Amino acid sequence: MTEAKPKKRLLTGDRPTGKLHLGHYVGSLKNRVALQDEYECFFIIADLHTLTTKSSKAEIAQLRQNIHDIVLDYLAAGIDPEKSTIFVQSTIPETYQLNLIFEMLVTLPRLTRLPSIKDMARAAQMDDEAIPFGLVGYPVLQAVDILLPRAHLVPVGKDNEAHVEITREIARRFNRLYGKVFPLPKALIGEVPTLIGIDGQAKMSKSLNNAIFLSDSPEEVNAKVRRMFTDPSRVRPDIPADPDKPTNVVFRYHDIFNPNKEEVEDLKARYRQGKVGDVEVKQKLARALNAFLEPFRERRAKYENRPDLVEEILVEGGRRMRAEARETMERVFEAMGMYGFELSHKM
Ligand code: TRP
Repeated sequence: MTEAKPKKRLLTGDRPTGKLHLGHYVGSLKNRVALQDEYECFFIIADLHTLTTKSSKAEIAQLRQNIHDIVLDYLAAGIDPEKSTIFVQSTIPETYQLNLIFEMLVTLPRLTRLPSIKDMARAAQMDDEAIPFGLVGYPVLQAVDILLPRAHLVPVGKDNEAHVEITREIARRFNRLYGKVFPLPKALIGEVPTLIGIDGQAKMSKSLNNAIFLSDSPEEVNAKVRRMFTDPSRVRPDIPADPDKPTNVVFRYHDIFNPNKEEVEDLKARYRQGKVGDVEVKQKLARALNAFLEPFRERRAKYENRPDLVEEILVEGGRRMRAEARETMERVFEAMGMYGFELSHKM
């Protein structure tokens, strides 16, 4: 009898800063759900990463609720806790250990040159001089998350691509200095790398207040679609216009979320001829979005009001991840030949 080949590993995750939206779904969640059978999956809720910009006691107090919300979003999106490991970053002690080792394997200028660090500081209303050491180390901590389970694949949004590149550099450097412990992980960018916001801004984001959340009710979806932009130059429905303009939010969402391609083509044809009003285009989009979110709502209902179940999933996931993390640290210290590690086994 031949043994089944062990599956490759996938790790990705999110900071618990609030509910997930459609941009998260098309950027990364969709890939995660689709790859659950092909890969051994680890999903990290990166609470330590939130401390890089939100370290006050009041902000920390939000983490419990945010973590529960994000787990519910995962489960609603179709992540199956029987197949995949969902865990909270701060519950894995080896994270802090490997972080210190990795800090030696990347230069300060390599990190400070990354636009993402300043972007995050700016989003947190932080002056450049106020950037903490820990925020500069954000990508190093992310490399730790990815390499602790020795993951091969990292489904992320476009904004995280540079961090996966740093992860590869750290893995390559470790392997060259001490011996091959880590795979060189690859980023997998979603088919819609950045989803346009409902207000036409380049990116859907909770802080820009232009998001449709996975947990929105049908009424909320309807109201948000009514507020959406089509083409501001088309002041009357009988004016022919181009539905394929990148800034036409309503049609961009039809392209992505309406599975009825015939309906979309018919709307576009009539739009080009000035024979359809925004109201109809929006009503059909709202219907498509609600149909898309309906299975999410059904799965969410099974877990909602069961905080005990969510906690159980996180405890079990943490247990599984810790076993992997311990194994990785054995290999790391062994490869490095750290005497202190030998001593620690005798204590
Ligand atoms: N940096 C990710 C974000 O933008 C969150 C994250 C932390 C992550 N650790 C990770 C993503 C590891 C992928 C892999 O929120």
